[in-house]
Amino acid sequence: MKALVYQKFGDTNVLQTIEEPKPSVQSNQVLIKIKAVSINPLDWKIRKGEMKLMSGSTFPKHTGVDFAGIIEDTGASVTNFKKGDEVFGVVKNNMKEGALAEYVAVPSTLVWKKPIQINFVQAASIPIVGAAAVTTLQKMGSINAQSEILINGATGGFGMFLLQLLKQKQAKITAVTSTKALDFAKKWGADVVIDYTKENVLSQKKTYDTVIDLSGKMGYINAKQLMKPKALFINPTPKPVEIITSFFKNLFTGKKHIAMLSNPSTDNMDVLLNAVDNGLQIEVSKIFSFVQSKEAYQYAEQGRYIGKVAVEFN
Ligand SMILES: NC(=O)c1ccc[n+]([C@@H]2O[C@H](COP(=O)([O-])OP(=O)(O)OC[C@H]3O[C@@H](n4cnc5c(N)ncnc54)[C@H](OP(=O)(O)O)[C@@H]3O)[C@@H](O)[C@H]2O)c1
Repeated sequence: MKALVYQKFGDTNVLQTIEEPKPSVQSNQVLIKIKAVSINPLDWKIRKGEMKLMSGSTFPKHTGVDFAGIIEDTGASVTNFKKGDEVFGVVKNNMKEGALAEYVAVPSTLVWKKPIQINFVQAASIPIVGAAAVTTLQKMGSINAQSEILINGATGGFGMFLLQLLKQKQAKITAVTSTKALDFAKKWGADVVIDYTKENVLSQKKTYDTVIDLSGKMGYINAKQLMKPKALFINPTPKPVEIITSFFKNLFTGKKHIAMLSNPSTDNMDVLLNAVDNGLQIEVSKIFSFVQSKEAYQYAEQGRYIGKVAVEFN
């Protein structure tokens, strides 16, 4: 089968398609014929060597974390799926394995039935950023119509899910995004939109109960000026040192710096599947074929897309 791999850290030029054996299933696994894979910033952060502490430096590495496809085979102990089921899921070890291949084998606990009202590229867009949005809500605790929330970088994959889940709770949301995405931010639930290409969010006088930085460009030091005295700063891109220091600093300060790690668990997928049933919108603004995978990454890594970018298999 064909798979996308790389043999050293680097830009998109290190990506290459190889032929390798189709995986066989272990007892707890399902084998999936891949129909779509969505692209996450995590993929290129690993590939560029920005996460070496976790990924290690052994090669080849596969790429792509979120997938959707059709069950081709099931291991002896798998009872909840059968050949032909349409599913979506995540690879087990996203630092080494990858879904950009014709087939993947993963534990059946990392796979969920694809809702019939969404297609494969939409389903492949759910796990990492959808679970990150649900985990963010859990970190925030109580959210209601009085909650004032700022999302900086609100119309990528993560923001698309987060905006809609927060709106279900009637929170008052200010979304920061670029010009072409302003209407999407409003459609997904923003009450106020700020175009970062025209206005510096830090020049505002307003403060919030929660500031969530999905752009990775704000930083806690800057965010503090936008935070009420007991507000949270949710950081999905914490540096290892920030995870340790914020834990201790938070013990002594009103404002809290919270590191967030996505947890694509079945409980979190249930929240998202329920939201899909209730009309959650999943925008995949650009779709590439498998042979165009390198172009897909070149495109996504430049930013300025709305929602998700995905690779679709014939
Ligand atoms: N911790 C975890 O488990 C976890 C899970 C999922 C994602 N993440 C991280 O969370 C971040 C967001 O993920 P994503 O998938 O949504 O990424 P994304 O699709 O690339 O979205 C990033 C957003 O930031 C906006 N942005 C870029 N520059 C900005 C600026 N100067 N000011 C304000 N907004 C700006 C982008 O808008 P334009 O494109 O219009 O410029 C876009 O809306 C990524 O760093 C990702 O790695 C972490």
